[in-house]
Amino acid sequence: MRKKPMAKIVFIVAVARNGVIGSAGELPWRLPSDLRRFRATTWGRPMIMGRRTFESIGKPLPGRETIVVTRDPAFDAAGVLVARSPDAALDLAQARATAMGVDEVMVVGGSEIYAAMLPNADRIVLTEVELTPPGDATFPPLDPADWKEVSRETPDRGPKDEVEYTIRIFERA
Ligand SMILES: NC(=O)c1ccc[n+]([C@@H]2O[C@H](COP(=O)([O-])OP(=O)(O)OC[C@H]3O[C@@H](n4cnc5c(N)ncnc54)[C@H](OP(=O)(O)O)[C@@H]3O)[C@@H](O)[C@H]2O)c1
Repeated sequence: MRKKPMAKIVFIVAVARNGVIGSAGELPWRLPSDLRRFRATTWGRPMIMGRRTFESIGKPLPGRETIVVTRDPAFDAAGVLVARSPDAALDLAQARATAMGVDEVMVVGGSEIYAAMLPNADRIVLTEVELTPPGDATFPPLDPADWKEVSRETPDRGPKDEVEYTIRIFERA
């Protein structure tokens, strides 16, 4: 019997010029048009996030299945699935993608989860934010030998967007 293809593991992240992605549990910028793009890109798919990112959002986002990664056996939150390790989260996300009939699982941060799962990533949808803010959460540097840029787009800045940004998509080389 032919093996079923696995869903692609897709990172989605917004990164400042200095690698910063977060500060004190929050995003260090306001980019509503990029958040709309995040919603569209993740819609209908299983979405893996670290416990701290989940706490900063505060609730499961509608239209997606949230898988929270935590070591805390007592962690419990309504409307989310829980995994005790990055590997368990990826296995669960693959099973959910099959059940949902989608071919992507989304990894949405934060810093610890990106670092742990980078070796498993197939594609990275990266919003490059034209800022160098202070912060305590960063995205791991990408080795150019491992990643090729397949598209780059600088959308028009929306009226409520704090700054310019560029969407760059990388596929594993
Ligand atoms: N710019 C962006 O695109 C973006 C996206 C997402 C998040 N962020 C920002 O990133 C920051 C949060 O990132 P973070 O690195 O602090 O936290 P995080 O990656 O969201 O979550 C870390 C938590 O995940 C769990 N975890 C990590 N490794 C694990 C492992 N091997 N096994 C089991 N559980 C594990 C632990 O939860 P327990 O402590 O419960 O065990 C850990 O405390 C925030 O500032 C947020 O705003 C930015």
